[in-house]
Order: sequence, then structure tokens, then C-alpha cells
Amino acid sequence: MTRIFSGVKPTGHLTLGNYLGAVRGWVEVDQHRADALFSVVDLHALTVEHDPARVRRLSRQAATLLLAAGLDPALCTVFVQSHVDEHARLSYLLECTATDGELRRMIQYKEKSARALASGESVRFSLLSYPALMAADILAYRTDEVPVGDDQTQHVELTRDLAVRFNQRYGHTFVVPRATRPPVAARVMDLQDPMSKMGKSHESGAGIVYLLDDADVARKKIMRAVTDSGQEVAYDPEAKPGVANLLEILAACGTGSPDELAGMYDSYGALKKDTAEAVVELLRPLRERHAALAADPGYVDGVLKEGAERARGMARPVVDAAYRAIGLLPAG
Ligand code: TYM
Repeated sequence: MTRIFSGVKPTGHLTLGNYLGAVRGWVEVDQHRADALFSVVDLHALTVEHDPARVRRLSRQAATLLLAAGLDPALCTVFVQSHVDEHARLSYLLECTATDGELRRMIQYKEKSARALASGESVRFSLLSYPALMAADILAYRTDEVPVGDDQTQHVELTRDLAVRFNQRYGHTFVVPRATRPPVAARVMDLQDPMSKMGKSHESGAGIVYLLDDADVARKKIMRAVTDSGQEVAYDPEAKPGVANLLEILAACGTGSPDELAGMYDSYGALKKDTAEAVVELLRPLRERHAALAADPGYVDGVLKEGAERARGMARPVVDAAYRAIGLLPAG
């Protein structure tokens, strides 16, 4: 059976980008067609300035949202990365497989380190080694497919390179995974700045729809989205990135391609209004289920405990095999 692994990092509140680019596909498709694991990858949240209490809170919230979105523990494994030691154990071996040069070439490292330096913050070493930990997340489960949004494909490519290199040097240990992407909305853009990705930690929240935003707040953010000059509604991501983003979001919420939808509107206002309503309706059940689950933290904890046990059982033999293959003396 195909093995799938993917994750979300608790560095901020989950966004519409996370949902459309990744989580929705996990819920609607991936958990039904494969042996799938989905993780709140909390170790990754320590690579930037962080507040311990906030990371803890956001980790629980992210896990609750994944369940609220419809991940079903009877169909897939949901767990928190730091509950399974194998991720950190394997990460070190992959740091010993990756080169400094290839880690420095990662776009996210370049962008995030430049941003940190510009605001006078230091850059943590773990920001550079991050892709080795991400590769460990994936390779520890002999993963075949990694469903992610566009911004993560470079990291999955590096994971492939590391798996091939490790296998060639030390004997066949890892499955070489591949990234898969959603048919639309693989890169949802910031509503106020449609040239950059809608990210959890963009400075101002005005261009970001958070999954837990109240309906009115979400509606207002979309109605205030930056659009482009001219008045014709056309799907042209280069010339009209703001309008194209709205069309992609609307397409992802319902049926029809962004191109087909463009032909149905003769004003930006009408497009915004329908997009706002579609998003509010899409997120309504999720917010309601989140409220119910948040009132029962014992249930969420139980799911995470069982998930971590299952994940550990899968990862341990793979990581043990990697330790042997690379030349470490087995304990006792
Ligand atoms: P993270 O937490 O930034 O995002 C989680 C998932 O959401 C997707 N995504 C988007 N998709 C479309 N439009 C957007 N604006 C948008 N923003 C985020 C991301 O592509 C991702 O699929 N490094 C990863 C987490 C990770 C991981 C892994 C993923 C750690 N280990 C192993 C897969 C496999 C990250 O920072 O995702």
C-alpha cells in the first residue's frame, strides 16, 4: 500500500493556504487511498524565535484543527513529531549526508535568514539544518508520497537526493519519495500582497485568512483584498495576481477552473463577494467541529498518544536499520 507522510508546523495559526494547499487533500483523498501519517511537526517550530507556551498551545490547536478538518484516526495516523524520538535520531544521520552547500541553496533558508538578519535577529543553526529534519520526517516511514503545497517541493527534492545518496553509500535503506500537489491552490497568495505566499507568520494578518477567523473577519479580509488595475475579470497570474488568487481560491472552494470562473464575472466586487461567501461556507463546519473538539482535550490527547505509538512502531525499524547501515555499533 502506498505510504503517505505530511506535516504542518505550529509556528502560527493555520491558514486558508495550509487548508487548500495541503490539509484538504489529506482529508478528502489521501487518508482514504493510502496508509497515511500526518504530523504536527513541532520541532520545526523551534528554528525561529519562539515562545514555549505559544508553541505548546499552537501544537494542540493544530492537532485539533486537523481532526476538525476531518482526519479520521480510524483511517490514518495523527501525531506530534516530538513524541516520536526517531525523527531527531534520523535527522542527525541526514545532516551527515547533506552538504552545507545544498542546505544553503534552499529558498526558504535564504528568505527566512535574510528576514531575520534584517530585523536584527540572529539566525539559528537549526534553520539551516531544517531540511535534514524534514527529510528524516519523511524517510523514517519509507514514505512514497508527500502531499504538500508548492513552497515545500524544493525540500522534498532535497529529501529525494539524500535518500538516493544514503542508499548508494550505505546500502538500500530508504524509499525515494515524491511530492504531490493539489490540482488548484497549490500556492495561495496573501490577499494584501498577492506576490507573496499567504504564510502563517506574515507581518500583518490583514491578507491572511486564518481557519479560526470569525465569519465576519474572514469575509472582510476577502472583500478588502488587493485587486489589480483594469476592470476585466481574467485569470492571468502574471498580469493580475490579485484577481488570479481570488479565482484560484474560489475554484478550490467549489467546482470549475479559475479560467471558467473568470468568464462568469463582470466586476471585481462580485468576484470578491462570491469568494468570501464560498470561503466562509467552506470553513464553517471546520470551525464548529474545532469548537466541539477543543472542549474535549482528553479526546485529542488520546488520539495523539495512540498516533505516536503507531508512528514509533513504523519508524523505529527503519531508523535502526539506518544506524546500522551508516556504521554505528548496535547497542547490546
Ligand atoms: P507549513 O507548516 O508551512 O505548511 C503546511 C502545508 O501547507 C502548505 N502551505 C500552502 N499551500 C498553499 N498555499 C499556501 N499559501 C500555503 N502555505 C502553506 C505547505 O506547502 C505545507 O504542505 N516544512 C513544512 C512542514 C514539514 C513537512 C515535513 C511537510 C515538516 N516536515 C515532512 C511534509 C513532510 C512546512 O513548513 O509546512
